Amino acid sequence: MAAGFITSGGGERKDYPGKMTWRMVITCIMAGCGGLIFGYDIGISGGVTSMAPFLQKFFPHVYRREELNSGGTNQYCKFDDAMLTLFTSSLYLAALVASLFASFITRKFGRKPSMVFGGLVFLAGAAVNGFAHNVAMLIIGRILLGVGIGFANQSAPVYLCEVAPAKHRGKLNMLFQLMITVGILSANLINFFSAKMSSGEGWRVSLGCAGIPALIFLIGSLCLPDTPNSLIEREKLTEGKAQLRKFRGVEDVEDEFNDIVLASQAAKQVEKPWSNLLRRKYRPQLVMVVLIPFFQQFTGMNVIMFYAPVLFKTIGFGSNASLASALISGGVNCVATLVSICTVDRLGRRFWFLEGAIQMFICQIVVAICIGVKFGVSGNPGELPVWYAGIVVFAICVYVAGFAWSWGPLGWLVPGEILPLEVRSAGQSVNVSVNMIFTFIIAQCFLRMLCVMKFGLFIFFSVFVFVMALFIHYFLPETKGIPIEDIAEVWKTHPYWKRFVDEDDDAARKSRFSGV
Ligand code: BGC
Repeated sequence: MAAGFITSGGGERKDYPGKMTWRMVITCIMAGCGGLIFGYDIGISGGVTSMAPFLQKFFPHVYRREELNSGGTNQYCKFDDAMLTLFTSSLYLAALVASLFASFITRKFGRKPSMVFGGLVFLAGAAVNGFAHNVAMLIIGRILLGVGIGFANQSAPVYLCEVAPAKHRGKLNMLFQLMITVGILSANLINFFSAKMSSGEGWRVSLGCAGIPALIFLIGSLCLPDTPNSLIEREKLTEGKAQLRKFRGVEDVEDEFNDIVLASQAAKQVEKPWSNLLRRKYRPQLVMVVLIPFFQQFTGMNVIMFYAPVLFKTIGFGSNASLASALISGGVNCVATLVSICTVDRLGRRFWFLEGAIQMFICQIVVAICIGVKFGVSGNPGELPVWYAGIVVFAICVYVAGFAWSWGPLGWLVPGEILPLEVRSAGQSVNVSVNMIFTFIIAQCFLRMLCVMKFGLFIFFSVFVFVMALFIHYFLPETKGIPIEDIAEVWKTHPYWKRFVDEDDDAARKSRFSGV
């Protein structure tokens, strides 16, 4: 099994012995459940804010405006309200702050405590939201959910990258994204049925059900062992080696174990991982953990995920049809992620990043034209033929598929796998924070942007999609199949990044620990 292979870095690298074990798959599914709680929240708020009883109770002025507007006038602006968007976006602000604290806990105490804490706080948030009586309770609940997500998103992708063997790292890490999409889809489904509840309290069911994925994640995290890398980093060498054997399903893990020890000793020399991340030799990683999540959010995907029902309602669908269409795009999101899971370790990261960008770009232009032609700048579509609405939904679904097999999963996989151990926790926190801050901005500004930019909003996002495709083409080296503690090598042969990577420094590091 220990076949050597040549990587894009050009050097001969080892492939550690090991096989895909059930234990590892189940562990990864449990850790991937962190994505489930994240996804549930992404999917739930748009549906809830399109339910009349919810608007009547918490945002009566939006409800009145929507009622007044339903016949005609400006459809682009009917949901534009700062408090309503704060309900959606407050979660991401809380997640942003929490992920910074999570970095410390994840590094000092292990990946597992961060995940357990995340699950607990999230559970509390679901309860507060389910029993909400006023807007303050709604927002406090969302903040608690956000703290939970900050911890889960900081620790779960790192966990997955560390336990997965290099050959299967792509697909196992993508379980996180798959669970995000399952979370979104479950939220869409629950919204679809709870909206029909005659009591008018269906929104409570939608918000309170967030407790279910939280429980799954919490129980899963309590049962998980910590990663060999984290145990070794915290000097539990025997336990770390035993876990490594169990994960790999073979006795001979000496090679991999020694490399992790080496990497972790180097990591210990780094007293200030945060300022260390700013050093010149980590410039490629820093740029990636900032720009990849930034671009991921500026694909505009969350406009669809948060506001699909509102968006479909805006373009003239009835309440039920809007929730049903959101359900369709949620389903596409889930299935398309599977395509990527099955192929990413074969076709590579760059292939999907580029293919997805081209697909999204084309669809955004089609949607902009469709909405522009019918709604113009006045925002009044008159009668909207069914076939016309069908084209818009189709284009949106193809766009969602494009995201789901590219920037969605890769936006979590690539930043997680390119970070060397000494800056891994800090770097992952930057990744989560940047992702959350731009998720927040999009959630907070989308309804205003739609009101001001109208159909031009889709052109706005398509420009970013174009730029990010160029960025990947020129700056991201391929990382498929390279053992995680070896990935630093790929920058050394990259035409642009090689000047930043100080080879001497690395060599010095290796010789310092060669006696271990
Ligand atoms: C993104 C989320 C997005 C989701 C959609 C994730 O990778 O981080 O912002 O809503 O994909 O599936």
